[in-house]
Amino acid sequence: MKVLVLGSGAREHALVRALTQDPEVTEVLVAPGNPGMVDEATVLSSPGRIDDPEAMARLAHDNSVDLVVVGPEAPLVAGVADAVRARGIACFGPSQQAAALEGSKAFAKDVMAAAGVPTARARVCRSVEEAMEAFTEFGAPHVVKDDGLAAGKGVVVTSKLTQALAHAAQCLEREVAPGQAPPQIVVEEFLDGPEISLFCVTDGTSVLPLAPAQDYKRALDGGRGPNTGGMGAYSPLEWAPGDLTEQVIERIAKPTIQEMARRGTPFAGILYVGLALTARGLQVVEFNARFGDPETQVVLARLRTPLGGLLLAAANGTLAQHPPLQWSSEHAVTVVVAARGYPEGPRKGDPIEGITSAADAYVLHAGTAHAPGGGLVTAGGRVLSVVGTGPSLEQARRAAYEIVAKIDIPGAHHRSDIALAAAEGRVFLPNQENS
Ligand code: AMP
Ligand code: GLY
Repeated sequence: MKVLVLGSGAREHALVRALTQDPEVTEVLVAPGNPGMVDEATVLSSPGRIDDPEAMARLAHDNSVDLVVVGPEAPLVAGVADAVRARGIACFGPSQQAAALEGSKAFAKDVMAAAGVPTARARVCRSVEEAMEAFTEFGAPHVVKDDGLAAGKGVVVTSKLTQALAHAAQCLEREVAPGQAPPQIVVEEFLDGPEISLFCVTDGTSVLPLAPAQDYKRALDGGRGPNTGGMGAYSPLEWAPGDLTEQVIERIAKPTIQEMARRGTPFAGILYVGLALTARGLQVVEFNARFGDPETQVVLARLRTPLGGLLLAAANGTLAQHPPLQWSSEHAVTVVVAARGYPEGPRKGDPIEGITSAADAYVLHAGTAHAPGGGLVTAGGRVLSVVGTGPSLEQARRAAYEIVAKIDIPGAHHRSDIALAAAEGRVFLPNQENS
């Protein structure tokens, strides 16, 4: 099987790595990829834009691939999976209409309500006045979400009303192109509790859950600083309820998938269920329509089932016949090394030195580029994702941080508390400071 992966982050590097370990996969191609992938995959030069459906469908066709795996959300929301399938090529990733579960938070809330999925009470607001009413209704801390895709930066959680209003105004007063729908936001009640990410592989009917992971969204240690795309993750979650996966399947994933099918827009791909474990039980924080980054780095580090066969079964609608998934009993931790200025304004072009690996740790690339004179430079906010594995969470942490300590990028930063609380038997709350 020849597989084309779309994307260039550490998530895609993890996908590429796992696919190359599948004996049924004969070749992995990647577009646009990154310098870290050249030993494992064919990095296609000049592939075109990955959110251009026709260009990606042509690329898949011209390279005679058997399966396309779409990494990020933007191509899905743009309709890349539809265009690939229209050429008769299998594609792992939902259709444009189904990807609205991630592309519009208001749509996701509507589906959740129809499916009876437990989630925060919410209001869709089209003016600052409406937002103000919702802030009063739900009280502080305030949760304000840009309706559309915002690369992990559209959500503000704050106890300061002025800050909540400012974010609402910033989202609502944005210019939109003629013919586009006016901007809207979702204001919702604050969900208090540790967060869990659970990826459900689905073909639109059957569901196979992957192992749960925890992501660290805030930029700084202790859950401080702005939200980011994710600064680190670990798996498994020994503190999570024993019936977590079953609850998610029965109360969240299946009802959602049934509701999407009922609407005539079946959802196939990854239903990423972002959860908060609150005093009133599991609540959905968000849905995404793809693998999470950086959770994928730790989930795939533990998956022993060949990935290509699993994704092809989901793409072909044969997941019900797929054997149960096999997992390593090891723990995995990933630490993201971010460029100076991330997330506000990451600096590009800084030299990257000191990338090494060990028996129990390796470096996945994200925002890296070849320097003109040789070597590597930073080319994005999240630069590297260092993965450590081990028989205990503490050993997996140590394996990752030993490699992180050797990496030298001027001004780069990382969190030093990834998986720390869990390794010490404490539960980690994501938002220590709501400002
Ligand atoms: P989202 O893009 O919806 O995942 O939101 C990004 C992050 O904001 C989440 O991972 C949470 O840490 C936080 N967040 C989102 N919604 C809520 C909520 N209702 N209550 C508390 N935190 C939230
Ligand atoms: N790690 C969060 C996300 O992928 O959206």
